[in-house]
Amino acid sequence: MEQIIPEAAAPRVYLETYGCQMNVADSETVSAVLRRAGFTIARRPEDADVILLNTCAIREHAEERIIGRLSDLARLKSAHPRLKLGLLGCMAQHNRAALVERAPWLDLVAGPDSYRRLPELIGRVAEFDPAVDVRLDRGETYADISPDYAAGVRAYVTAMRGCDRFCTFCVVPYVRGRERSVPPDAILREVEELAARGVKEIVLLGQTVNAYRFDATDFGVLLRLIARIAGIERIRFTSPHPCDMTDSVIDAMAAESKVQPYLHLPVQSGSDRVLAAMQRGYTVREYRELVERVRAAIPDLALSTDIIVGFHGEEERDFGATLELMRAVRYDSAFSFKYSVRENTRAYRLGDSVNEAEKGRRLNEVIALQEGLSLERNRVLIGREFPVLVEGPARRGVGMLAGKTPQFKTAIFPAAGDVAPGATVSVRIESATGHSLTGSIV
Ligand code: 5AD
Ligand code: SF4
Repeated sequence: MEQIIPEAAAPRVYLETYGCQMNVADSETVSAVLRRAGFTIARRPEDADVILLNTCAIREHAEERIIGRLSDLARLKSAHPRLKLGLLGCMAQHNRAALVERAPWLDLVAGPDSYRRLPELIGRVAEFDPAVDVRLDRGETYADISPDYAAGVRAYVTAMRGCDRFCTFCVVPYVRGRERSVPPDAILREVEELAARGVKEIVLLGQTVNAYRFDATDFGVLLRLIARIAGIERIRFTSPHPCDMTDSVIDAMAAESKVQPYLHLPVQSGSDRVLAAMQRGYTVREYRELVERVRAAIPDLALSTDIIVGFHGEEERDFGATLELMRAVRYDSAFSFKYSVRENTRAYRLGDSVNEAEKGRRLNEVIALQEGLSLERNRVLIGREFPVLVEGPARRGVGMLAGKTPQFKTAIFPAAGDVAPGATVSVRIESATGHSLTGSIV
């Protein structure tokens, strides 16, 4: 067995992350685990002894991108034979068997519940035999490991892991395992430390984050506990499931001014037939009633959603119902996806009745409709003032700063005097696109 950890120099790890915010947070945990074990973090793959990709399996497209990247890195490896290459996360969990067979240059395959054992796994990498650890562990929350948070005014804190909903299209419950919540005292300790470091905004993460429960602490209670922490000015969360939007959660959002008026509420489809086939657990009417309830409780609420087009069996009238729902709800923004059949899921055996071109057409229609809605929703804000938490220089425009309104809309405005990241300024909106607002500090 070859030992990759040299005696003298600390081994350097390069970590690259794909997929959702949950994966970004997991990479921060991986980084903490490895640094504790004596590794250092490399900034470029060329500088590393170990390259780890934290991967996504939600759609085929995500996996294809990662496979492309892997073959690039395999070339780097042939130039540097001592370089170790590993795959972490959802795709590692999902494709473990195929990966070991089809990617012989992979040295390590580790699923989302194996990160605690990474130092040991890396040490175990042998010449011809990849180290594989894809055991799911319904008790693993990494509650005792403080992640290496990225610098900034906002930090993402994991509140719960896994998912028990088993929507028929979704691979998440299979690759991330059963739902489990991080103990509230561990979350509060993290948030207090972040506040002490100057973080102003906390985003609580979980695959169905509002299903959070630890003993008597449900998600509404958790929001209220975090709102008590001095220094934290804004609290957000993603992604909630419509079925877990209890009164406790809505009341906490309404009562706690730090909990921001923005809700990402994935609907997936506007057709009852398709929702039933997806086993989402609600009808269009129930979803719309929920939207009414949260809008009544939280003034000025911004709403976003996820939409899947071309699910197996989706007919033109089902698709029409999705467009109709979008117009009725008038979302501020929407993330839309072509249905991608995933192995192991309940819908896998059903088939894939909508062809690729038709999925593309439907996706474009959803995008075009949403662009119009987003523009309308943003234009009515012209002339109004919003507190904007300053994040830093705007990506475009010299001398411009960017930040978010409470509704999570990007606001861009000319820098002024001593306004620095972390400050909250009042910005009057002067113009709007579907993607951002531009204004000036008042
Ligand atoms: N195909 C397409 N989109 C999917 N999503 C989840 N699984 C699939 C799939 N198999 C989308 C859903 C979910 C978002 C994170 O990804 O809209 O809310
Ligand atoms: Fe996937 Fe449904 Fe769980 Fe969301 S709630 S992660 S879509 S199974």
